[in-house]
Amino acid sequence: MQANQPIGIFDSGIGGLTVANAIRQVLPNEQIVYFGDTAHLPYGDKEPYSIKHYSTEIAKFLLKQNCKVIVMACHTASSNAYNEVLETVNGKALVINVVDPVINYLKNNKNKLIGVIGTKGTINSGIYENKIKEEQINKIVKTLATPLLCPMIEEGFINDRISHTVIQSYLEDEKLKNIDAIVLACTHYPLIKKEINDYYNKHVEVIDSSEVVANFLKEELSRLDLLNKEERKVDQFYVSDYTESFEKSTRFFFKESIRLEKGSIWS
Ligand code: DGL
Repeated sequence: MQANQPIGIFDSGIGGLTVANAIRQVLPNEQIVYFGDTAHLPYGDKEPYSIKHYSTEIAKFLLKQNCKVIVMACHTASSNAYNEVLETVNGKALVINVVDPVINYLKNNKNKLIGVIGTKGTINSGIYENKIKEEQINKIVKTLATPLLCPMIEEGFINDRISHTVIQSYLEDEKLKNIDAIVLACTHYPLIKKEINDYYNKHVEVIDSSEVVANFLKEELSRLDLLNKEERKVDQFYVSDYTESFEKSTRFFFKESIRLEKGSIWS
């Protein structure tokens, strides 16, 4: 691995651009190669074996693009396919999922009762409960699948009556009662962070996993002396199914206009 190679990032679609954006903010000199598997979106409702298959194929594609690190921006993929991706990559690049950096963050966090919201695929995997137990971290985890949030955000219902109602009805759930912190364990949720913060009115710490992951990645690259010191090359954004509407939505997730290219993995 060399410092001037790009950072590969993948997700089930364009939602992972929130993670790419967080990475861009803390690592402005790094070239990004992004892959969104829009042909198989959403992963949140898929069987783990499908998610493992898609994720390993995408990892091979990112290896061909010469990436020094593969960031699994998708929580559902991170929760269900990390070991398989690690095995496929076989040391040819660093692999970073979006769960371990959050677990790491929680180790040094004073809060005790931690809520986690994400897709059905993330929550049903039990990854957060298992890791907290495995690593003997003194926290109690309460998880809740919130499947309506992704389509709501994708359809542009943000900061309005509909989003307030949907967010409130999820956060009111008994399972999340008395939590001290909440992990936004999905690519899309940074876009409703403000509404979630407003709901809790500073009584609950809202943990934005995209920021936690970006900081973790920066530390890792610096520790391994893999930070790019040359001039940044042009980013590349691939999707497996191209539509104009995907391209239009990219600005919403990445905050900059992007040109999407069709990346043919599934032929
Ligand atoms: N990217 C997914 C995640 O972070 C959300 C969208 C999907 O279900 O594919 O879990």
